[in-house]
Amino acid sequence: MSGRSAVVAGLGVYAPERVLSNGDLEQMLDTSDDWIVSRTGIRERRIAGPGETASSLGAHAARRALDDAALEPSAIDMVICATNTGDTPFPCTAGRVWLRLDAPPRPAFDVQAGCTGWVYALELGRALIVAGAVERVLVVATDVLSSIVDWEDRSTAVLFGDGAGAVVLEAGTGDRGVLGSYLNCDGVGGPLLMLPAGGSAMPANQETIVRRQHYMKMAGNDVFRFAVRALPEAIAGALEAAQLSLADLDLVVPHQANARIIEAAARRLGLDLDRFMVNIERYGNTSVASIPLALAEARDEGRLKAGDVVAVAAFGAGLTWGAAVVRWGR
Ligand code: UT7
Repeated sequence: MSGRSAVVAGLGVYAPERVLSNGDLEQMLDTSDDWIVSRTGIRERRIAGPGETASSLGAHAARRALDDAALEPSAIDMVICATNTGDTPFPCTAGRVWLRLDAPPRPAFDVQAGCTGWVYALELGRALIVAGAVERVLVVATDVLSSIVDWEDRSTAVLFGDGAGAVVLEAGTGDRGVLGSYLNCDGVGGPLLMLPAGGSAMPANQETIVRRQHYMKMAGNDVFRFAVRALPEAIAGALEAAQLSLADLDLVVPHQANARIIEAAARRLGLDLDRFMVNIERYGNTSVASIPLALAEARDEGRLKAGDVVAVAAFGAGLTWGAAVVRWGR
């Protein structure tokens, strides 16, 4: 070990103002508040307003993360943005986020790894800092899933929301920072959660629009079963990399996809549910943004303090899964 670490110097989040409640969805679809709450734990979600995009949400979160770290944008060496719903397929959303901060040019690129994208981006940032390539990385997570949800499909429309989060990772020398990570992807499960059209496999045309192939498709039951296995595996892998055990964790912040998935993962791990941060009730599944949003809320509630050891863990399209163990604070 070089003694060089990557610490979380600042955290910021943003969610659009517009609230879409289960009651609102009852007016649009053949669904009920009772079904949504009992099957998912979701009561409402935020939806991007006119003109709001992945980069505008991400820029709000990034500004707040920089303020939290008491840093000017010029102190950042690199921008990594996890997203599945970038403003456009290219150029990258990281560059657009950065442009909105009115900052000097920096290396910027996107990471696309389903809902696990932010955990992937965090590990990438950590590795580059520990290798000595950079001093500070802005790791952004932003998704506007409302732009790819089929609002006529009740099996997916009730689940998702929009949001963003960002952290500033910086070089440190103490015992804080990202202590260990675990990442994985099994492409066999790719078809279980995908957006079929608009890529090189199925370029956009009138037919793809008529067939609604530009909307997200998901085999919910299969993804559920995968998630219940993947979360504990990822947390165990990250703990092993950090040379720590479950008993060392002050808090677990899992991807907020379904409250029942979190409960099942907690049971499998043999951990009390009160060690888990759950805020899916108010945001739904915001994909890459769900962990930063939950981290921020845990911090605001006094459940995440400097020096605490927190595990973040996610799963998603790919199928990807991953986790990181972080000793919080600078
Ligand atoms: O970020 C990662 C991505 N995604 C996930 O993590 C999602 C993982 N999967 C899930 O969270 C769950 O599988 C769902 C919430 C998607 C579905 O819950 P479920 O308990 O697995 O329900 P189901 O798909 O087995 O459907 C049960 C019933 C069906 O009716 P029948 O066939 O039993 O008559 C569905 O048609 O519920 C029906 N249904 C609904 N009813 C009212 C499905 N969606 C709805 C709905 N409102 N929105």
